[in-house]
Amino acid sequence: MRDYSRSRHGYLCQTNEGISMTIAIFGATGQLGSLTIDSLLTRGVAAGDILALGRNQDRLARLGERGVRTTAIDLDDASTLDGVLGGVERVLLISASEPGKRMPQHEVAINVAAAAGVGHLVYTSALQAPTTTLPLAAEHKATEELIAASGIPATYLRNGWYTENHRSDFDTAREHGVISNSVGAGRIASAPRGDYAEAAAVVLTTPGHEGKGYELSGDAAWDFAEFAATAERVLGTPVRYEPLSSEQEREQLRGFGLDDATVGFVVGLNASIAEGTLSLTNGDLASLIGRPTVPLEETLRSWV
Ligand SMILES: NC(=O)c1ccc[n+]([C@@H]2O[C@H](COP(=O)([O-])OP(=O)(O)OC[C@H]3O[C@@H](n4cnc5c(N)ncnc54)[C@H](OP(=O)(O)O)[C@@H]3O)[C@@H](O)[C@H]2O)c1
Repeated sequence: MRDYSRSRHGYLCQTNEGISMTIAIFGATGQLGSLTIDSLLTRGVAAGDILALGRNQDRLARLGERGVRTTAIDLDDASTLDGVLGGVERVLLISASEPGKRMPQHEVAINVAAAAGVGHLVYTSALQAPTTTLPLAAEHKATEELIAASGIPATYLRNGWYTENHRSDFDTAREHGVISNSVGAGRIASAPRGDYAEAAAVVLTTPGHEGKGYELSGDAAWDFAEFAATAERVLGTPVRYEPLSSEQEREQLRGFGLDDATVGFVVGLNASIAEGTLSLTNGDLASLIGRPTVPLEETLRSWV
């Protein structure tokens, strides 16, 4: 067995001959998955000890070129997972990408992990999933419950908002000099995907995380007035924030040609954010990765 012992600065791996310690990643072909693989490699995990799982053949092939083991799977087709986790010790289940369809997909992955007897299942959940009113979180809460019922030793990485979710706001600021929505004074403790990926790599390569749920978020929470001021500094052109009521936002989005379901989703999400569902700053993310999270301004500067 390999013994992943924690040092303050990272990862220590001791190997007894012959037994591998494979880390399998569902969602390895996605953005968070690929950054997590980068972090695992940086922390000294051998590429051959990583098993990348996903549908996208091109991205799997690119990972294969780096020495990562790959298997094409589709969580909508359980037969593609037969035997896939044999010999795997740890699994990262990155939540699947289509809200509303995720429960059966996650259930397939959890069942396969339980049948394979994996020693540790790490799941990327949503901030405060057990209690939040965030519209997207119900499937995460239900997935955590499925994992708990499976009996697999588990860790929940309750990821807050990606700063990258606001790339389009930054582009709008650049183009029009105004950002408008119904979030109002709601604050968002965002961090870029790379920070969450690093946290996942830490949890997968150091001991003592089983049975824990981490509420992960950026060190500082910002509101849209501050986002606009930051964008103005970064762009060097005037940017202002225009708060809208939910009804004004509904009209605006309809005017953009969005269908009723999408309009309802966005307005509901923004109402929830306005209530503070993404504002938690507890330092868990910085503490796991051993450094401050990347500030909003630094991410915006990387987009110029
Ligand atoms: N915290 C946030 O702000 C935030 C924002 C957006 C999303 N999320 C959640 O975080 C997850 C990771 O984010 P991301 O940016 O990395 O998303 P992403 O780039 O869209 O990656 C999603 C991953 O899920 C895989 N996947 C989806 N359906 C699948 C299926 N039926 N079978 C097998 N694999 C499937 C994709 O595989 P292929 O590409 O190979 O098809 C891909 O690897 C998302 O899936 C979503 O649940 C969080």
